[in-house]
Amino acid sequence: MCIRLSNNTLAAILAAIAVLSSSAGEKIEKSPLYKDASQPIAVRVNDLLGRMTLDEKIGQTNQRSVAVGMHDLGGWVPQFEQGHIGSIMNVSSPQVADSIQRIMLNKSRLGIPVLIARDVIHGYKTIFPIPLGQAATFNPDIARKGARVAATEASSDGIRWTFAPMLDIARDARWGRIAEGCGEDPYLTGQMGQAMVEGFQGGLAGDPTSLAACAKHFVAYGAAEGGRDYNSTFVPERVLRQTYLPPFRQAIDAGALTIMASFNDNDGIPVSANRHLLTDILRGEWKFPGFVVSDCFAVRELISHGVAADAADASRQTMNAGLDMEMETGHYLETMRGLIENGHVSEARLDSAVAAILYVKFAMGLFEDPFVHTPQSVKYSAEHLAAAKEAALQSAILLKNENNTLPLKPNRINRILLTGPLADARYDQLGTWIFDGEKEHTVTLRHGLDELCRKKGIAMDFVESLKYTRHDNLSGIDAAVTAARNADAIVVAVGEEAIFSGEGHCMASLNLVGRQSELVERLSATGKPVVMVVMAGRPLTIKPEIDRSAAVLYAFHPGTMGGPALADLLLGVTSPSGKTPVTFPLTTGQVPIYYNHNNTGRPANGTEIGLDGIPEDAGNTFLGCTSYYLDAGHKPMYPFGYGLSYGCFEYSDLKLSAGEYGKDQTIKARITVANNGTMDATETVQLYVRDHVASVTRPVKELKQFRRVPLRKGEKQTIEFELPVSELSYIGADLRPRIDSGDFTLFIGGNSETTLSAIFSIK
Ligand code: BGC
Repeated sequence: MCIRLSNNTLAAILAAIAVLSSSAGEKIEKSPLYKDASQPIAVRVNDLLGRMTLDEKIGQTNQRSVAVGMHDLGGWVPQFEQGHIGSIMNVSSPQVADSIQRIMLNKSRLGIPVLIARDVIHGYKTIFPIPLGQAATFNPDIARKGARVAATEASSDGIRWTFAPMLDIARDARWGRIAEGCGEDPYLTGQMGQAMVEGFQGGLAGDPTSLAACAKHFVAYGAAEGGRDYNSTFVPERVLRQTYLPPFRQAIDAGALTIMASFNDNDGIPVSANRHLLTDILRGEWKFPGFVVSDCFAVRELISHGVAADAADASRQTMNAGLDMEMETGHYLETMRGLIENGHVSEARLDSAVAAILYVKFAMGLFEDPFVHTPQSVKYSAEHLAAAKEAALQSAILLKNENNTLPLKPNRINRILLTGPLADARYDQLGTWIFDGEKEHTVTLRHGLDELCRKKGIAMDFVESLKYTRHDNLSGIDAAVTAARNADAIVVAVGEEAIFSGEGHCMASLNLVGRQSELVERLSATGKPVVMVVMAGRPLTIKPEIDRSAAVLYAFHPGTMGGPALADLLLGVTSPSGKTPVTFPLTTGQVPIYYNHNNTGRPANGTEIGLDGIPEDAGNTFLGCTSYYLDAGHKPMYPFGYGLSYGCFEYSDLKLSAGEYGKDQTIKARITVANNGTMDATETVQLYVRDHVASVTRPVKELKQFRRVPLRKGEKQTIEFELPVSELSYIGADLRPRIDSGDFTLFIGGNSETTLSAIFSIK
């Protein structure tokens, strides 16, 4: 049988064959090794690198920023097409993100996707407590979940790289960026940081909700002299290795794909140009496979630091030190070709930077699919809001509770007055570093408390008194005092506006600003019990206000769901369980102050004489010469790890599995904790160690483990910690880790001042 084809059919078939063969031909061309997802990443990176022109390689090291909220690509299209951009910051629209990636995949020569970056720090739309507040939960699961929620929401707008977590140890609350980190302790910071990395990065390749994490700011930025941002640091290498580097190592071990070099110069060398840190330690010792990005404009700032003459010099120094991607200025794009042609930077060094950047893009699966797949409906979902509320619940710290003023109970309290500048502060409650959080979604303390009071049959009055913390409104204070007369209890919400903390926002005094102190004083003079709620980006020096309050709940900046969470705590739906992630100073002059300080040769012993005890014409040696302040002693207002609850915890029967351990053994420590209070509550049990004799001066105590233990009223539990002796190692004078034989004290308790202890030795 012969089938006759019409001309039209024949034409159609020929056209189809042409398409097939052309796409087959294209396929052969478009399927080089680097596009084969079954190949190991190293093979793909090598293959791709071998195909790139010098300009395409330089393009990968270039990160630019677009105007926030940009809706079309405007003048950027040619730069994308030519492969001149490795990463773009501040795109936050799924349409724009997808069109960028379409250009990269279809129009740029090699089809290398860009990394779309944004600062997603403690939430994207649904805002969680500031990181310092999350650290107060002592609960890595909270941090992991917070980061997961943030990543999911951010990925719905095309973002696939966040500049978080911030792992800077901060011992000086004047530094505004203390809000962004996890406080003063390397162990707590490491645990929370690791959880955040895991939460942000999710399942990576194939997971459209994963964000590459960026552990920042590497390193010692939190030691800025005088607590003033961007200031120089002077941290010796032994202390870097002992205190500042470990959280970064932990983040890298948890898989953090990127690191951000910090702004500071440490002992005269800007970190962005510090080869020892960026190459010897990160690559050589730690085998970090990801890439290092500069901080914003930091390459150019080598000129301001006075160590580079111009952009080319700054690019040369930083690239040779081990910085891989330059943020914002375009200096690498402008100068790198010349630097390579003149032999100031080797092409091999550029190749290693590009290889690290490509590694991250492959690891995230962006070559296979860089497009947005997360629906918009994830933003502010019920699940996300519930997680944010749980984080806020666990992060608030009960600092004081005289006569069990809290919780406010309906049978004792008929009417509450709520007042103060943070009581209905939709924006400030969210805290610093929220580029995308919308205050319209904040549920304030006013709304949360009002709703819960209605349910409980308690009347609530709200008087604004001070509109914001610096508001000078004496008549507002008068109105609050008048309203207080009808109330059985006063809740006054004071603290800091969001703008007082975060980058570049430092304070020389940690006292409450404006008329807030006066507000608390006048309310307290009414004789009604005052419950002070503090929302702030740092620990504040509020001793006078604490003295005037019957109860104090410290919430840092608690985020979108802070209001309902605080209402639950105030009315006793849940017991507070937060613990201080930083030492609370008594007065600003005590900072830097932190629990894990070295012992001095003349430590204070508690018998020190203060200003009031000094007789006139006292002799020069009268005071005894120990390490303290005449006007502020040596103790903080609250130690690290401190926080009360509505339970009443008693610790007993601390027992160790042995009196002596070998260096490869594990110490087992058991403790019984009972809740002898009248409410169910959760206690964070903390284990500290002190090394008695070492080759260098050691901290008086170091946190080694902690565990949150929920205990019903009347319940008692025995908890066992297992601490490998290897975790007692420290950095010796030769900069190497070591463990000495000798005696140690192990402490367990509810804060860093616990004295319940047992002695053991290492043989
Ligand atoms: C900050 C970083 C931030 C970067 C990008 C810098 O000024 O120090 O923490 O990630 O800007 O916004």
